[in-house]
Amino acid sequence: MLITPFNRRALIGGIAATVAAPSIIRAQTVSDTPFTLGVASGDPSPDGFVLWTRLAPKPLELHSGLRMTKMTVAWEVATDERFAAVVAKGEEIARPELGHSVHAEVAGLQPNRPYWYRFTLGGATSPVGRARTLPVFGSKLDHVRFIAGGCNNYENGYFTAYRRLAEEADVDFFWHYGDYIYEGSGFHRPGSAPTPRTHHADEPYSLDDYRARYAQYKLDPDLQAAHAAHSWWVTWDDHETDNNWASKFDQDGTPPEIFNLRRQASAQAYYENMPLRRSSFPHGTDIQVFRQASYGDLLDCWFLDTRQFRDDQPCGDGGKPMCAEAQDPKRTIMGAAEERWLFSGLAKGQGRWNLIANQVMLMPLDRRDKDGDPELWNMDSWAGYPAARQRLLAHIQKQKITNIVITTGDEHQNFVGDLHMHAAEGPPLATEFLGTSVSTGGDGADVGPRTPAILKHNPQLKMLNSQRGYVVHDVGRDHWQATFKVLDKVTTRDGKLSTRAKFAVERGKPGVQTA
Ligand SMILES: [Fe+2]
Repeated sequence: MLITPFNRRALIGGIAATVAAPSIIRAQTVSDTPFTLGVASGDPSPDGFVLWTRLAPKPLELHSGLRMTKMTVAWEVATDERFAAVVAKGEEIARPELGHSVHAEVAGLQPNRPYWYRFTLGGATSPVGRARTLPVFGSKLDHVRFIAGGCNNYENGYFTAYRRLAEEADVDFFWHYGDYIYEGSGFHRPGSAPTPRTHHADEPYSLDDYRARYAQYKLDPDLQAAHAAHSWWVTWDDHETDNNWASKFDQDGTPPEIFNLRRQASAQAYYENMPLRRSSFPHGTDIQVFRQASYGDLLDCWFLDTRQFRDDQPCGDGGKPMCAEAQDPKRTIMGAAEERWLFSGLAKGQGRWNLIANQVMLMPLDRRDKDGDPELWNMDSWAGYPAARQRLLAHIQKQKITNIVITTGDEHQNFVGDLHMHAAEGPPLATEFLGTSVSTGGDGADVGPRTPAILKHNPQLKMLNSQRGYVVHDVGRDHWQATFKVLDKVTTRDGKLSTRAKFAVERGKPGVQTA
């Protein structure tokens, strides 16, 4: 992390000028290193992965304290943590147009093994990260371990779950199910309650706003540790842009042509801050989030985007009884192209298991909390798109696909349940493991106030827990185990982690079992 006086002047010599410029934030972080936001790897292939960093000597300042010029960043990959055996190296240009982010696509490496990587700029060296390549396509594989997590609201609590999951051993990948940042700023609303931490500024709208919001999150050492420890597959949900957005529509009725300006800013900021390939480069509001990965002959992963192509939420959004608009058979949550891609992939799948890595709850969940009340559905989840869910389930049933596990986020609680063709009737077709949040919602409790009513009205549920944490998935050739890990607290640092429950699915026999 050392930087010589000469190089400091050469590399970030514009800082003196930019300090005097109007700042978009109140707080400032002063540092000599341009690598304050850590490093990351993602989207692995059998011969490589993406390496990411973003130069930011003063991360919360306009332009991150950098001159608006191109900078050449070197990267290297080694087979050992001490970089005694460097096996690949290169340079990437960090451009002001992209917030001085770096996306190095490394190729030519060996499959299914760990590597270590770092960046250098002048005399400054980044922290070291560990990445992992995919196994060879179709090769025999006995085990994959991955972790599912997301929903890390900075204001609601500390990212202890990221610290703990960074310490998990033998992890092939981490999947982030969205809500990497939260655009809302409770602290900035008049009369809002105190929170453990506060966002640095009010709600982001411009590209620079979003860049600063990502910077604040990425300064968190626990989040940095999770990136440095594992290769990530990232997908987005709503809060990377705006709560409950749906393609052209935000939740406030903003004219689509105006909301599109915000979508462009958030899409570019997402690309800049994630370890994504150039195939996900933003074009206007569009960004390629849905994509596929295969782990040998064992696991085919289908990473979904249920936000960018969906119809608007029906019935005025929120928690509502079922309505005619929701039941329109044409309604879609993935859009036609993504639906075709998923359906044809599942039908042709070669892997022993299919993972549908999905954002919002897929199983129908009646949310009423009093007997005698009408059924209540979350119109932002698949419950607002019942025809789309029935198309997926009918496809699974017709194609006799008996190896599907669905993972989900969004709810900020842990749910385990089976999916049936109709409510909880008939044989199960797939199992959904819905993971809680890293911090969103604060400490929570094992049993929340509405838990008994939800369990009573939803016989497909096998567990409901309202604490924070993450889910470890161990995928074997015939046996899938999901381990739910929860924290006693996130509103103070270093909450205690424990295993809340373990569940299993047997290949070819849909339906969840207690492990
Ligand atoms: Fe969330």
